Amino acid sequence: MNLQDELTQRATQFNDYWQQYLKKGTPEVLYDAARHLPLAGGKRIRPFLAMMACESASGDAAPVMPFAAGLELMHNFTLVHDDIMDHSLIRRNLPTVHKKYGVPAAILSGDLLFAKSFQAVLDVSVDFPTFKKLEHAFVNCIIAICEGQQLDIDFEQRKRVTEQEYLAMIGKKTGALFELAAQGGGLIGGGSPQEVAALTTYGAILGLAFQIWDDYLDMSSDAATLGKDIGNDIRNGKKTLIAVHSFAHANGKHKKVLDDIFGNRAATDHEVQKVYDLFVELGSVEYARQRAVSYTHEAKDAIAVLKDTPAKKLLHHLIDYTIQREK
Ligand code: IPE
Ligand code: IPE
Ligand code: MG
Ligand code: MG
Ligand code: MG
Repeated sequence: MNLQDELTQRATQFNDYWQQYLKKGTPEVLYDAARHLPLAGGKRIRPFLAMMACESASGDAAPVMPFAAGLELMHNFTLVHDDIMDHSLIRRNLPTVHKKYGVPAAILSGDLLFAKSFQAVLDVSVDFPTFKKLEHAFVNCIIAICEGQQLDIDFEQRKRVTEQEYLAMIGKKTGALFELAAQGGGLIGGGSPQEVAALTTYGAILGLAFQIWDDYLDMSSDAATLGKDIGNDIRNGKKTLIAVHSFAHANGKHKKVLDDIFGNRAATDHEVQKVYDLFVELGSVEYARQRAVSYTHEAKDAIAVLKDTPAKKLLHHLIDYTIQREK
């Protein structure tokens, strides 16, 4: 079975499972707003990763399902708040939660999803020491996401951001949740300390490649394919790896284009395209792609110690898919 088929099958299985955490309630608008994104689809990569990690250790993904639900609830919560912060109007091909329900309901429905993520983790059935480990990892992950998201916003206002700073920022805002998914899957699957460590490293690297590719798609894709508004990162002045590389290599003429357009929320599609073309011309898009490719090798090396199982093979395919995906 190829990765896409496996992803689709696991996503269907997951979608059936996590319904229990997405029931309606009152006030209706709060629950409608909270259910808006979860029910709109999404790739379910983090649950898939947790399932593969668990399966690679124990051969069975069933015990990881509540944890996978916790991860995806957490992910959806961050998306609701992220869209407010990033002034995004479309996600999963629908209006974002704050666009549809207003900012107050979006903040609160995000908070509700946040609480629900803990409710799901409470349903994990493992021995108490393992549960404590999971809980610690879960809490530390949320702290990392908050720190990373604040850095992401701070960097919008900064003239210069180094590649190292960018990597540290995405490691927190995105890498931490992938890391948690792989680590949690390994722990719940009863993996050896060596296997859990390998999976944890794999997840962290996968997260970096995932965000580098997400940044690329934001400027190169089209709204219908991606399901999000295109060019948002350029308009917001996001210091993506591509932008960081371009700022370091731009000459006077290039700098003028960047100064005029990059970070201008009112920039037209044509102007955004001009910046993207400049990024291509400066070799920054290719540079970021190469970096992402090198992460795929690193991630595969990291899990060399795992037993040869179908799940391990799928983890190899998953990292390749991450930097080939169109959405
Ligand atoms: C989007 O994540 C947020 C990032 C960390 C880049 P996904 O691309 O996994 O979004 P969905 O869940 O498939 O919509
Ligand atoms: C999102 O990064 C990271 C989160 C923790 C939500 P982005 O802001 O690039 O994600 P998208 O592109 O809006 O999905
Ligand atoms: Mg963001
Ligand atoms: Mg965003
Ligand atoms: Mg993005």
